[in-house]
Amino acid sequence: MKIAVIGGTGDQGLGLAMRYAKAGEDVVVGSRKAENAENAVTEIENLLNQSNMKNLEGLSNPEATVAADILILTVPLQAQKTTLDSIKEYVDGKIIIDATAPLSSNIGGSPTEFIEVWEGSAAERTFSLLKGKDVAVVSAYSNISSSSLMNHKEDIDCDCLVCGDDEEAKLKAKELINKLPGVNAIDCGPLSRSRITEKITPLLIGLNIKNKTHYAGIRITGLDKK
Ligand SMILES: NC(=O)c1ccc[n+]([C@@H]2O[C@H](COP(=O)([O-])OP(=O)(O)OC[C@H]3O[C@@H](n4cnc5c(N)ncnc54)[C@H](OP(=O)(O)O)[C@@H]3O)[C@@H](O)[C@H]2O)c1
Repeated sequence: MKIAVIGGTGDQGLGLAMRYAKAGEDVVVGSRKAENAENAVTEIENLLNQSNMKNLEGLSNPEATVAADILILTVPLQAQKTTLDSIKEYVDGKIIIDATAPLSSNIGGSPTEFIEVWEGSAAERTFSLLKGKDVAVVSAYSNISSSSLMNHKEDIDCDCLVCGDDEEAKLKAKELINKLPGVNAIDCGPLSRSRITEKITPLLIGLNIKNKTHYAGIRITGLDKK
């Protein structure tokens, strides 16, 4: 199973690509410019102190989409439509995991405030923008900080809230998420629940600012207690 991180040159995408490449998964970093994706691959190799990693390559976003089975979308909200438009014709039969948090900073405001999206959530907007395509949309990763991902010598101290309407796709996404060391994928139900989960991100950013850290995350407890 090949993973493409669409917009994988930014903080969140680079962190996810690095973690999965380190775990031995086949990873493609996607970018608007293939050259930038190749540079991101070199950056990951340098950070991991490895060279010519066979399971990691950098391609343009459309080429990365063609090459992969699972896509992880890691672009800011304002880039969501143009990015999806650029890969739309290649998404049939694939799973797309949307990591977007709709923050007020996407429109010039504060990252500690969320903005309402007409469709209900960023992930539902992805679903809407890909209407007519045979693609399963899952919402996840939006509560994991890029700092925790980039800090690859340590486990990640948080859980990952997962929402989606396609149970099979959600299962595959959860398997992938559970490969992040320290992370438990928590099934939060249908895609519409991402209206709640995406709003946790500006809360965590506010806690980071208040406590002068970059590692705030959440853990869900008590689910096994009978
Ligand atoms: N950073 C975090 O800690 C964090 C945590 C949780 C969730 N998230 C979510 O993850 C997503 C990515 O966050 P990030 O901090 O990694 O974002 P970012 O660094 O600002 O952007 C990621 C990539 O998106 C592409 N991009 C940026 N602006 C664009 C535009 N106007 N049009 C088209 N492409 C554009 C760029 O790739 P190319 O130039 O290579 O094409 C860029 O490297 C966001 O939706 C964010 O809410 C981030």
